[in-house]
Amino acid sequence: MNNETGIQVDGVTKRYGALEVLRGVDLSVPAGKFAAVIGKSGSGKSTLIGVVSGLEKPDSGRVLVQGHDLSHLDQRQMAELRRLSIGIVFQNFSLIPSLSALDNVLLPTFFDERTSVRERRARATELLDQVGLHDRMQHRPSELSGGEQQRVAIARALVNGPSILLADEPTGNLDTETGTAVLELLFAMGRARATTLLVVTHDLDIAAKADMIIEMKDGRIQHANT
Ligand SMILES: Nc1ncnc2c1ncn2[C@@H]1O[C@H](COP(=O)(O)OP(=O)(O)O)[C@@H](O)[C@H]1O
Ligand SMILES: [Mg+2]
Repeated sequence: MNNETGIQVDGVTKRYGALEVLRGVDLSVPAGKFAAVIGKSGSGKSTLIGVVSGLEKPDSGRVLVQGHDLSHLDQRQMAELRRLSIGIVFQNFSLIPSLSALDNVLLPTFFDERTSVRERRARATELLDQVGLHDRMQHRPSELSGGEQQRVAIARALVNGPSILLADEPTGNLDTETGTAVLELLFAMGRARATTLLVVTHDLDIAAKADMIIEMKDGRIQHANT
């Protein structure tokens, strides 16, 4: 087991019916590094994020997160790994509308028996502070701008201190300027925590700041630039 590898994907294939969406993907992102995934719509980027997160099962090949082969985990272990080690940020923010920003961030800590409620609140509050929302903690998602909602989602993804953070076009619903600021924040927050980042983005300026750029084409990695 190599703990220096944050994310490893070996020969992964995935099909939906007759459609072969991943056609043998090999990828290795060293722990603590930032990999940007680019490529046209339909090239398999979201499916790649899906198999790395454990939400989707590959048809063949294997996925290792921090040295753990996902196919070797039972349902409970997988749920635990996903909850504690994998943070995910989606394009549509995916916040719970009826909960405040603070409660949205606290949600993933709900099953954490090792930490007191006070500590969890302190952690969530600090993260919201770091994403610039110290005065928005009691606001509901509908009372926040898109950029603010995505900042809440970033804080939520980081609250359990994941070793890897996945983001699928996290700025797809934001204007360019807000999107760039959100990506820079994601990048900075990940760096500060030595989190392995796998981020699908169309922002080539941000991709240029990544440690590696992975270009997907027709279900394969066309080009990986390290
Ligand atoms: N659950 C699914 N069922 C059927 N087809 C799917 C499913 N998810 C994705 N696809 C198809 O797989 C291809 C790749 O999708 P996706 O991974 O979302 O690409 P990207 O994120 O690069 O746009 C697309 O043609 C898409 O329509
Ligand atoms: Mg996609």
